[in-house]
Amino acid sequence: MLQIEGLTMRYPTGDLALDNVDLTVERGQVIALIGPSGAGKSTLIRCVNRLVEPTAGAIRLNGTDIVSMGRANLRRTRRRLGMIFQEYALVERLSVMENVLSGRLGYVGFWRSFLRHYPQSDIDEAFRLLERVGLDHMVDKRADALSGGQRQRVGIARALMQSPDILLVDEPTASLDPKTSRQIMRLITGLCRERGLGAIINIHDVPLAMQFVERIVGLRAGEIVYDGPPSGLDDQRLTDIYGEEDWSGTRARDGDEEGDDAQAQAQAQTDAARKVVSAVDLPEMKKVAAS
Ligand SMILES: Nc1ncnc2c1ncn2[C@@H]1O[C@H](COP(=O)(O)OP(=O)(O)OP(=O)(O)O)[C@@H](O)[C@H]1O
Ligand SMILES: [Mg+2]
Repeated sequence: MLQIEGLTMRYPTGDLALDNVDLTVERGQVIALIGPSGAGKSTLIRCVNRLVEPTAGAIRLNGTDIVSMGRANLRRTRRRLGMIFQEYALVERLSVMENVLSGRLGYVGFWRSFLRHYPQSDIDEAFRLLERVGLDHMVDKRADALSGGQRQRVGIARALMQSPDILLVDEPTASLDPKTSRQIMRLITGLCRERGLGAIINIHDVPLAMQFVERIVGLRAGEIVYDGPPSGLDDQRLTDIYGEEDWSGTRARDGDEEGDDAQAQAQAQTDAARKVVSAVDLPEMKKVAAS
C-alpha cells in the first residue's frame, strides 16, 4: 500500500537525514519505527506527507507516486494520510467536537468548514469516534481544558475523521505517563485493526513498541538496520540500532501476559482485516485515486 524506494533526504544545512531507505507498509500493517534521536524517524514521516521535499526516491501510496505529485493531487492524497503528533496540534480555543470535525477540512471545502457547517453524517461520525476513544462525555469541552491523554485521544479521532488509508504517528506517547502511554498505544493499534488501517508509529519506548506492534523497523543515521518482529530484537540488534549499552531489562515486558495476549489477538485480527479490506476497499480506492 505504501512503498518507499530509495528515499534520501538531505536538508539544506547538509544533514543527511535519510540515506536510500526502502520500506513497504502493507495494507493494514502497523509498524513501529525506532531509533536514536536524529536517526531520521520524523523526517521519514514528513517526507511521506511532503512536509519536506525529499532529495531523491519514490513514495507510492496505492501505486501513485507522492514525490512527483502536483499541489492539487497532493491535497487530495493528504486526506489519505492521517497524522498524529506528540504535541497534539489541537486548536486550543475550539471544542473537542470542533477539533475532531476539523479532520474533514480536506473534504468539506474552506468556507463550509470556516463557518462550521458540517454535514450531519460528519457530525454523526465524529460522535461515533469520540465514543470509541472514550471522550463522548466531553464533546463540548475546550481543547485547552484537557489532559495530555485526552488531547491525544482527540488527535486520534481527528486523524480518523479523514478516513485515512494509513496513519503517520510521531511520538504519540512522549509526553504521557506510562499507563496513559499504554492506553494510547492500545487505542491506536486497536483502531488500526478494526479499520484495516496501516500505520507508521515513531516511538522511543522500545518495550511499548514491542508489546503492541508486530513489526519493528530500526533506523540508525538515516539507514534501516533492523526490520522484523519484536522477538528478533536481541541485544545485538539493539546495539546495531542504538549503539553499545547494557540492554538487560529492556525487554522486561516480554512475558507480560496482557502483551502476549494482545499480540496473538493482533495477529488474528490483522489477518481478518486484511481479507476484508482487500475484498471491499479496492474498487473504492481506485475511484478515489482517479478522482
Ligand atoms: N529542519 C531541519 N533542518 C536541518 N536539519 C534537520 C531538520 N530537521 C531534522 N534535521 C536533521 O536531520 C536528522 C534527522 O532528524 P529527525 O528529526 O528526522 O530525527 P528523529 O529520528 O525524528 O529524532 P528524534 O527521536 O529526536 O525525534 C538530524 O540530523 C537532524 O539534525
Ligand atoms: Mg522525531
